[in-house]
Amino acid sequence: MSVQFPVQPIGRFAGASQPVRRPKEIACFSYNENHEFSLGDASIKWYYTPQLGADLSKGFDTFQKLDDSKDEHLDSLLTTIMSHEKETGKKIDAHFVTWRGMMTKIMATPFDNQDGFEMNATLYQDCIFIEENNAYKVASRQNEGQNRRRHGPPLEVMQFWGYKFETLATMPAPWGDTERAFIENRENEVVNNKEQYCSVVRTGIGKSILCLGGEVDAIWDSKPAQKGSPINWVELKTSAEIRSQSDMDNFHRKLMKYWIQSFLLGVPKIIVGFRSRDGILLNVQEIETQKIPETVNGRPNPSWNGDMCVNFAAAFLEFLAQTISDEGVWRIRRQPKSPMIEVYKVEETGHGDILSDDFKNWRIKL
Ligand code: A3P
Ligand code: MG
Ligand code: MG
Repeated sequence: MSVQFPVQPIGRFAGASQPVRRPKEIACFSYNENHEFSLGDASIKWYYTPQLGADLSKGFDTFQKLDDSKDEHLDSLLTTIMSHEKETGKKIDAHFVTWRGMMTKIMATPFDNQDGFEMNATLYQDCIFIEENNAYKVASRQNEGQNRRRHGPPLEVMQFWGYKFETLATMPAPWGDTERAFIENRENEVVNNKEQYCSVVRTGIGKSILCLGGEVDAIWDSKPAQKGSPINWVELKTSAEIRSQSDMDNFHRKLMKYWIQSFLLGVPKIIVGFRSRDGILLNVQEIETQKIPETVNGRPNPSWNGDMCVNFAAAFLEFLAQTISDEGVWRIRRQPKSPMIEVYKVEETGHGDILSDDFKNWRIKL
């Protein structure tokens, strides 16, 4: 049996924003250049202004690219939560545990009529754990490849530009510890997207408390000594140079995903590298995450509204908590352009592969 949550009409999500909590990092983990997991901040990167004029395609032939067709479930996030719980001696208090990317898709739903999604969810010890449905992710990537535009650089090269920009704009140690030579040689660094730093935060939307894990591109200065204080994270993005009103409208539409993604982890600053159509870095612009919704609202015919994203997410999470109330595995699905999100059971018992044995065994003892 399928239960439906209507997306339309979105007017019912208008009005003042439901309460939101400031995200606080509770733990972190890293993947090294071989995508091997470790607890802690080994792979954190520092922001340092990139040189303009760089060719973002340079090094595409030596790109160390993560094979993201593998299903990693929630494993690293759960390992990190488990370690945190061992330290504190108690369970985290979240109602939902998921990747930041899943919450981004949910929050964007009212204003995104293009993309669908599929997730798997299970209830365990009063908390709903949500993963991406990997088969769907892999299939939609393939479609994306087939629907490629007939002009311009190949899709793979355009995707590389984003990672190249990260390499050009970051350093593995703070300014002062880093050789000037490293900064000057960044253009020749091998680009590797297997290496990642991931922040695990406690946050809240409406009545729901969430524990989210997500990648953070860089830090501006250093982590504050006081745990739970805001961290000066930096999100890096690349975007085509704005040359016309329609480019500008497109950019303001893109700002929705930038904003949601950064808002969810408490990333205060987004640095956009504007590039030419053939991938030359032309300039960088710093954007304050917090100001994005009002900036977009101040324009004629805004294409999205941040408060409505929050209100939609708050309502949808409450609906999920009501719906996913017994054992088994549930599918959360939105088909492209569909006016609703469907939730239905795909396994009657157990937790599928959403929860690792290590995590379940730990929680049984706790
Ligand atoms: P840009 O966003 O600058 O184009 P993120 O910005 O989330 O840190 O991601 C870094 C880069 O990963 C992106 O850079 C883009 O190149 C690539 N990327 C992210 N999400 C993607 C997706 N859904 N499909 C393809 N590439 C993606
Ligand atoms: Mg990133
Ligand atoms: Mg980025």
